Amino acid sequence: MSTITNSIFTPETAARFDHLVTIYPVKRSALVPMLLYAQDEVGYISDAVVTEIAQRLDLLELDVRNVLSYYSMLRTKPAGKYNVQVCTNISCMLRGGYEILDHCKAKLGIGHKEVTPDGTFSLEEVECIGACCWAPAIQVNYDFHDNLTTAKVDEIIETYRAGKGKDVK
Ligand code: FES
Repeated sequence: MSTITNSIFTPETAARFDHLVTIYPVKRSALVPMLLYAQDEVGYISDAVVTEIAQRLDLLELDVRNVLSYYSMLRTKPAGKYNVQVCTNISCMLRGGYEILDHCKAKLGIGHKEVTPDGTFSLEEVECIGACCWAPAIQVNYDFHDNLTTAKVDEIIETYRAGKGKDVK
């Protein structure tokens, strides 16, 4: 196992990573879960994250970057405090997903993969988030909101703006 003396991660995350590399027959199988945990902690996949994860998995940084560029849920720039993901896949599309997306764009004044100037919100158009039965749906960080109307979206955004969203830490 690679020895990391100066981890950029919290001791809890570093310990989780130490464990992750032991549970797969092939070490690099831990790459995607590791990147997701790293993103949760750091906010995005920074150069320092790439370097440490490559070291932990005995990979080239290029190997990590190749995987990073493949998965749209991994980002290389910081998201807003609240990352609003709007599903426009088939069920949501048929029930107004694009109207919800356009409404979010207008309300937040930003486009796909952009962040508001104050860093409070970012916006992403995403594929199915598994809430098809309750379409149209959005996810804000790890919080689902479904059966949406534009009026409900306004309420949800204002709740987060006021710092009262369900997953506000
Ligand atoms: S299609 Fe939108 S949640 Fe599945």
